[in-house]
Amino acid sequence: MDATTLRRAIARTRLAPVAAFPKRLARVARHDAKVIRTTTRWLFTSREHHNYTYDLTKLSRQHLAWFVSVVCDVPVKQVRAYLDEIESDDTLRGHIEQATAGSARRGLADRQVRYARRIGWYAIVRATRPAHVVETGVDKGLGSCVLAAALLRNAAEGHTGRLTSLDINPEAGYLARTAPWSEVVDLVIGDSIASIGALDRPVDLFLHDSDHSRAHERREFEAVEAKLASGAILLTDNVTHTNVLAEHAERTGRKFLAYRETPRDHWYPGDGIGVAW
Ligand SMILES: C[S@@+](CC[C@H](N)C(=O)[O-])C[C@H]1O[C@@H](n2cnc3c(N)ncnc32)[C@H](O)[C@@H]1O
Repeated sequence: MDATTLRRAIARTRLAPVAAFPKRLARVARHDAKVIRTTTRWLFTSREHHNYTYDLTKLSRQHLAWFVSVVCDVPVKQVRAYLDEIESDDTLRGHIEQATAGSARRGLADRQVRYARRIGWYAIVRATRPAHVVETGVDKGLGSCVLAAALLRNAAEGHTGRLTSLDINPEAGYLARTAPWSEVVDLVIGDSIASIGALDRPVDLFLHDSDHSRAHERREFEAVEAKLASGAILLTDNVTHTNVLAEHAERTGRKFLAYRETPRDHWYPGDGIGVAW
């Protein structure tokens, strides 16, 4: 009897779980060893304590390009060009490195600039050329810078637009307070629900990335509804945790899609982009 025939014979007996155990143990051990290697390296090389940054795996980046292509109805080649554009923007990268190094909170930030799924936000702004983008939740201002960079490129091509960035923390947004990016950003400090209520221009693209509780996310989408321009696009950064935007899309007769990012060389499982349009 050869090895394959023997294995198949054992698989049909009550000994099957015992026989399979060493192989299963080895797989779990390999997986756990990788997790321990990644988390240990991160603990001693990164300074971040929340809102982690990382690059996407090659495959995750490819899927993001297709996701944006389908949502914005633009050729995937064009989207890939937008992703390359933001990643090779050395002026923005240099500014973020410098501003991070000069910030009072540099002890809690990494020197390396990594945008993760924000490159998808960039591509959506480049593809749809919104006149008014609203981002709730700013933190250091990494997303605001990426969105502002897209608006500046759009403006250079004749399509002007502004970003309203909302955060409850008066110290938020230090990366987005430098020209030229700051020239297209209005940073508003206060609770996002009140700030959305005070918006005085129609919103073409709305991104929820503030208080990620289900209730607050739902309140933001309800509050912004009356402020939306026709054909507005709604994004959430919370799509791997809640179904709030999908439910909102269903209630309001929109389409919905979700992209789940995969971080490269990071223990964090990643977030995603939920979109309703
Ligand atoms: C995940 S961070 C935002 C990340 C940012 N969009 C980026 O791209 O890096 C969440 C931010 O939401 C802000 N926040 C929390 N609750 C808020 C609220 N009720 N209104 C406005 N901002 C809020 C926090 O101060 C924090 O800066």
